[in-house]
Order: sequence, then structure tokens, then C-alpha cells
Amino acid sequence: MKTFAMIKPSCIVYSTEVEAAIIAAGLRIETSAEVRFTREMSEEFYAEHKGKPFFEGLVAMISSAPVRVYCLSGENAIQVWRDLIGPTNPNKGKEDQLRRKYADAEAYAAGSPDNGFHGSANPEDAEREIDLMRKWQFL
Ligand code: GTP
Ligand code: MG
Repeated sequence: MKTFAMIKPSCIVYSTEVEAAIIAAGLRIETSAEVRFTREMSEEFYAEHKGKPFFEGLVAMISSAPVRVYCLSGENAIQVWRDLIGPTNPNKGKEDQLRRKYADAEAYAAGSPDNGFHGSANPEDAEREIDLMRKWQFL
């Protein structure tokens, strides 16, 4: 099974630690790249959230600086990666979950959309997101 993972701009400096955690969890990094999303790409990637109050900030944040994208594979890869990063709100994660460990929890609590990491929610989303990376020649 494959999943799509992304390190958002604020956490890209932790790529080495994150990759160690991916390997330790038994996943394999199939491909990876440091890339920059345009505004239009960010809007297409997060289209499901269009119209929500955090959408504009989310798109601005994702396109503000480089991100690191991954195609990961392994048994139960979608759930394993989502468990590694933890819940959407970094403050609600367990201590060793990546969003809790590396994202700026105070900024998120104050309304920032930056929780440091993304993971596909289900197999259809994983396929769609990996296809977008291929379309943009990122992966
Ligand atoms: P992703 O892996 O990035 O898709 O996160 P998720 O699946 O845990 O959450 P969801 O898809 O619901 O939201 C997408 C992104 O929008 C989140 O990762 C956050 O960056 C942002 N976001 C979602 N809900 C909120 C919110 O209530 N407040 C703020 N500030 N940002 C939010
Ligand atoms: Mg999501």
C-alpha cells in the first residue's frame, strides 16, 4: 500500500529526524523531493477545503516556502504515517507524535493552519495526491 506524505514549510528543517521515524515505523521511502507549490497548486491540492475559514491561510502557508513530499509504501502505510504525525491539532498529539514534537503548537492554537505535516486520509486521496505530484513532475 502507498501513501502520500508532506513536510510543510515550517518543519522542513526536521527532514532527517522525520525520515528516521518513517524507517523506524517500518515504512519505505519510495521517492522524495523538496519542491515549491504555487498558489494554484496549493488550491488544487487542498480543493476539499475550499470555502472553509482556514482555506486562504492554508494555501498561503503551503505556497510560502519549499515543502518536502514523499511517496511512502508498506503495510497499512496510510494509517502508520497518520499515526506517526498525530491529530490535526498538534496540541492534542502524544509527546512522540511528529506534529506535537515539531510543529509550532502555540501558533496553531492562535489560529495558524501550520501543523507541520500532511498525510493522505484514505486510499483514494493517496492515489489522487500522488497523481498530482506526478502531473507536476515533483515525484
Ligand atoms: P492534512 O494531513 O494536512 O490533510 O491534515 P488533516 O487531514 O489532519 O486535516 P484536514 O484535512 O481536516 O485539514 C487540512 C489542513 O488544514 C490541516 O492539516 C491544517 O493545516 C488546516 N486545518 C484544518 N482544520 C483547521 C482548523 O480548525 N484550524 C486551523 N487553523 N487550521 C486547520
Ligand atoms: Mg486531510
